[in-house]
Amino acid sequence: MQIKSICCIGAGYVGGPTMAVIAKKCPEIQVTVVDINQTRIDAWNDNNLNNLPVFEPGLADIVNEVRGKNLHFSIEVDKAIEKADMIFISVNTPTKTYGKGKGMAADLKYIELCARQIAKVAKSDKIVVEKSTLPVRTAEAIKSILDNTSNGVEFQILSNPEFLAEGTAIQDLLNPDRVLIGGDTSTIEGKQAIEVLVEVYKNWVPKEKILTTKVWSSELSKLTANAFLAQRVSSINAMSEICEKTGADVQEVSKAIGMDSRIGSKFLNASVGFGGSCFQKDILNLVYIAKSYGLNEVADYWEQVIIMNEHQKDRFSDNIVSTLYNTVSGKKIAFLGWAFKKNTNDTRESAAIKVADNLLNEQAFVAVYDPKVKTKQIYQDLDYLGSRSLEENKKYLEVFENPYDAMKDTHGIAILTEWDEFKEYDWEKIYHKMKKPAFLFDGRGIMNKKKMEKIGFVYYKIGLGDS
Ligand code: NAD
Ligand code: UDX
Repeated sequence: MQIKSICCIGAGYVGGPTMAVIAKKCPEIQVTVVDINQTRIDAWNDNNLNNLPVFEPGLADIVNEVRGKNLHFSIEVDKAIEKADMIFISVNTPTKTYGKGKGMAADLKYIELCARQIAKVAKSDKIVVEKSTLPVRTAEAIKSILDNTSNGVEFQILSNPEFLAEGTAIQDLLNPDRVLIGGDTSTIEGKQAIEVLVEVYKNWVPKEKILTTKVWSSELSKLTANAFLAQRVSSINAMSEICEKTGADVQEVSKAIGMDSRIGSKFLNASVGFGGSCFQKDILNLVYIAKSYGLNEVADYWEQVIIMNEHQKDRFSDNIVSTLYNTVSGKKIAFLGWAFKKNTNDTRESAAIKVADNLLNEQAFVAVYDPKVKTKQIYQDLDYLGSRSLEENKKYLEVFENPYDAMKDTHGIAILTEWDEFKEYDWEKIYHKMKKPAFLFDGRGIMNKKKMEKIGFVYYKIGLGDS
């Protein structure tokens, strides 16, 4: 079987970029990305490429090249399902906010809705691909729904987790470390379905980088990869606190340990805490799975990664308060960055949200500048925490279009995201427009301490102790 038509349900941070790259690399395949969110689809179809709902370096160029040719964005979900030979499910799988597993388990209601819709609409055999990150053994549930509710149509279920990181999504998709495809390796049909998807990726990914496994291994590998990555960040963040107490420099420690080829140098940047839609959600999901099998020690081990991350965010805001003479009430603090990392407009679980909330609780005024995040999003993020009314948040937190305006007349500046442009600012000018002493809290370790101190700043960097 050769794939002629792909449908992807979910036009989000994964569905949009992933399908754009498939469309670019497979011109003979028609790719339709569908979503129930009309506003999102309209944004994907916007003629002004600056209005695409996802900002990723390189994405707009690809969308411009293939949109309307073999890449389409639509809200006509049924039509796209019916036409497709292969259907990717790339909908959100957030942490449950209700019932059993609340605050831990993955909420699979969107996945189940997709499965039921596919079963209802499909009139010909389909390969259904889990692109969303899912608890191990979800394929079983999807298969059961499809087999029991469809009209005699045959379905093969594959797991093809996505490993892209935001901010580098296009590069990650064009040159993946590996592509993982899990399927029913016990049947001929299952093996054939795996091969069909392998053929799609072979258009641009070297064969040796395409791994095929049992479906359960594939599902679990995704959760494991995120848990290991997040664990590295929490480990180095734990060391950052020891560095601050002992006079060591965490960046020197990272370099020293990273040169050990067994440890490796990546993911050792101490920070104000990891954010993003995946790490916390996927670890909580892993913890829930472990607990549900009675593996309490395993659950506790992974939960500690999250506990450490929360501590790191609180520690950062506590340090701001204690450094500013134990009160920030009525003081203005500028935030450079709101996104959870550079080169993305995504703010989900961003450390900035928690740090802002803590400072607002202390009655500080917060002035935010982020090069890509929209004002509305910032207020929505705070509103979601429910600590204050929207009116109060608007009174105490202001969003600026110009970073220099945000930093004027402030008592302190906090760097929350590592955007490159922050390093290029005229820091002399900023210093002169601030209240004195002028404090700079570098939550990403991107500024040079000596240079900042020479200008006059009282400079604090995560993981750098007094020497
Ligand atoms: P997202 O929230 O950006 O997008 C999901 C989209 O699915 C939304 O636009 C939503 O409207 C749509 N949707 C939900 N139910 C639908 C339905 N029944 N029919 C049609 N559309 C529906 O989410 P995302 O960040 O793209 O993540 C999607 C999945 O990929 C998650 O499981 C996530 O864990 C996983 N993942 C995300 C990343 C990442 O960096 N964001 C990386 C790897 C894996
Ligand atoms: C992550 C995984 O990397 C990716 O493979 C998966 O598909 C989705 O989840 P993402 O969340 O987009 O990707 O970004 P990532 O680069 O992993 O960063 C996550 C968070 O960790 C960010 O807040 C980042 O700033 C932080 N981080 C990362 C650190 O604080 N220090 C580091 O050394 C690396």
